Amino acid sequence: IKDVQDTIEEELISHDDLEEKIVQMAHRASEDYKGKNPLLVAVLKGAANVMTTFSQAMTIPVEIDYMSLSSYGSGTQSTGKVLVRHDLSTDIAGRHVLIVEDIIDSGFTLDWLVKEFKRRGAASVEIFAMLEKPARLKFPVDVKYKGFQIPDKFVVGYGLDYDEKYRNLDSIAVLKPAVYKGEYA
Ligand code: PRP
Ligand code: MN
Ligand code: MG
Repeated sequence: IKDVQDTIEEELISHDDLEEKIVQMAHRASEDYKGKNPLLVAVLKGAANVMTTFSQAMTIPVEIDYMSLSSYGSGTQSTGKVLVRHDLSTDIAGRHVLIVEDIIDSGFTLDWLVKEFKRRGAASVEIFAMLEKPARLKFPVDVKYKGFQIPDKFVVGYGLDYDEKYRNLDSIAVLKPAVYKGEYA
């Protein structure tokens, strides 16, 4: 077993650059949601880290809830099905919902979730996405608060996993090929 830092091929986005952008978007959202009592929803597990930074940078009182969804099994390819592992504990009818997501890859997860929240009667549904991979987008979703656009590489860190690991890395990085080959297992 190697230290996380020894398994990184390339850092794509530094911790400081990530947090600067997340804080900037949180400040913008704080202006937009004044007087609206917004409900922030993080899509677990990947969005847990970005939710913490984003919500702490908001300057108005907000409510926070979590929904656990998965469309990627243990591999690097979407399974094409959304599995609800854990649902909200909040009734969102009439609420202004701001979804906080770590990455939009194909858009499948958020396309499903936005429709689901509208079906539940949300007054509005908007998205903050820390990362977007435009080259892979198959289900276009309307993203109000944008972080970074990244190339079509499998990335980990700041909540994003490979086989459930590397979520604890504090930047966005590409792993060495040896990791995917299981050479450090
Ligand atoms: C990842 C990521 C997004 C989703 C993006 O989650 O965190 O939620 O995939 O892919 P898409 O745009 O193609 O739907 P994953 O299913 O791996 O679950 P996790 O958050 O628990 O890692
Ligand atoms: Mn996710
Ligand atoms: Mg994942």
